[in-house]
Parts: sequence; structure tokens; C-alpha cells
Amino acid sequence: MIVLGVDIGGSAIKAAPVDTERGSLSGERYRLPTPQPAVPLAIARSLGEIMRHFNWTGAVGCGLPAAVHQGIVRTAANIDKSWIDVCASEFLGQATGSPITVLNDADAAGLAEMRFGQGVDRAGTVIIVTVGTGLGTALFRDGTLVPNTELGHLILNNQVAETYASGAVKTKLDLSFRDWAPRLDAYLRCLEELFWPDLLIIGGGICQEFDLISPFLTIKTETCPALLGNDAGIIGAALAAAQD
Ligand code: BGC
Repeated sequence: MIVLGVDIGGSAIKAAPVDTERGSLSGERYRLPTPQPAVPLAIARSLGEIMRHFNWTGAVGCGLPAAVHQGIVRTAANIDKSWIDVCASEFLGQATGSPITVLNDADAAGLAEMRFGQGVDRAGTVIIVTVGTGLGTALFRDGTLVPNTELGHLILNNQVAETYASGAVKTKLDLSFRDWAPRLDAYLRCLEELFWPDLLIIGGGICQEFDLISPFLTIKTETCPALLGNDAGIIGAALAAAQD
């Protein structure tokens, strides 16, 4: 089955048709900057543009950087606050005329990694951390997702963890890996002490540079980069739609 997967991030929207049986992109990625402010109507317009680009009228899976509880957007750290209380699938579905499945972006990346990436056949507690504009998390217990964990909002050094250790912080403060990776390590240590996971998977764009990060990791938990790299969010969003 081919489903259009869309990963709406705080800075960019990435999309591609996904072969949901193979867990791979079946066409080239299309990337747009996230409109600012990222209000529902502007995101709906971007989604419309993406669908036109792919000449797409079928099912769409969409990862949003927000807790999406029973279809309703509940948080909005890196998108416009006007998303809160919007039924995202209904709103985007009406705006585009296609069935749209919406879920948290990190949960989407996690679904893809568990099905086709580093999480395959991994029992116990697995946490996927997406490092980008924010810090996204997806928590799995014996392969089952506990949705909307929002652990990037844990308090670390008296501040919201993602404002201390995200990829955006690295860029904004122009930190080298030597200066920034210990921040990520402190965050991962916090997850370790709270959850004692069996595996931590680092996703988001930065996972391509995992070799520059790993020398600074002091945690005991097995930690690896996402196998699907930055495409995990697109692939997982499509998987979620294929299941709907
Ligand atoms: C949001 C999460 C999201 C993460 C990564 C956080 O700011 O609260 O919902 O998964 O960013 O995009």
C-alpha cells in the first residue's frame, strides 16, 4: 500500500509517498519551510501544496509536533498556540478533501523505527528521542506505543529539557558537539533514571552525526541512531494512516 507520509516539524515540513509494507519511501521527498506563524490554516495550505505536488488524492498520514489526544491537539510548543483544541484530522481533512490521520511526530518516528528500524524484535522498554527544533519522545513497552509522552518537557537544570538540549539550541547558541552533546547526555541520563529503558534510539536530523555525539554519552543504556534516519517521521505517519 502506498500512503503519503508528512512530517510537520517546527522548521520544515517533509513529505513523500511511502510503501507501508516495505517501510521505505517510494518517491522523492518534498520539503517546505514550516509557515510562520504555524497556524492551522497555513499548515493546511502547505499540506494542500504538498498534495498537489504529488498529485495526491488518497490517504495521508501526518505527524504534528504536538500531543494529539483522541484526535485533538493538546499542546503546541513549536507550532502556533491556535492549534490547541483543534481536531487536527477533521480540520486538515476538510481543508484538503482527503482522509488525514494525525499523530504526534515523535510517535510517528517511533512506530517506523519499531517496525522497520532499530526497534525490530526489541522487547522491554524502548524510547525514541527525536532531536530537532524540540525534543520529541516515543515510549514503547514490548512493542506497544504509549502515545504522547512529551518527555522533551521534563525539567532539566531548572528549565524545560528541550530548551536546553534540542538541536535548535545547538544551532542557536552555535555550540560544537563537544559543548552540546553533554547537554543531550544529561537529558538522556534523566530519561535513564526515570525509565531504565532497554534501548534508546536517537532520531531527527542529528542522528546522521551520531558518531560525533556518542563519545560524549555517559549513560549505561544501549543507545543507537535511528536506522531510518530523518525519514522515520514520514514513514511512521504513513504507517499510522495505513492502519486507520
Ligand atoms: C512537542 C512534541 C514534539 C517534539 C518534537 C515538542 O516541543 O511538544 O509534541 O514531539 O517537540 O517535534
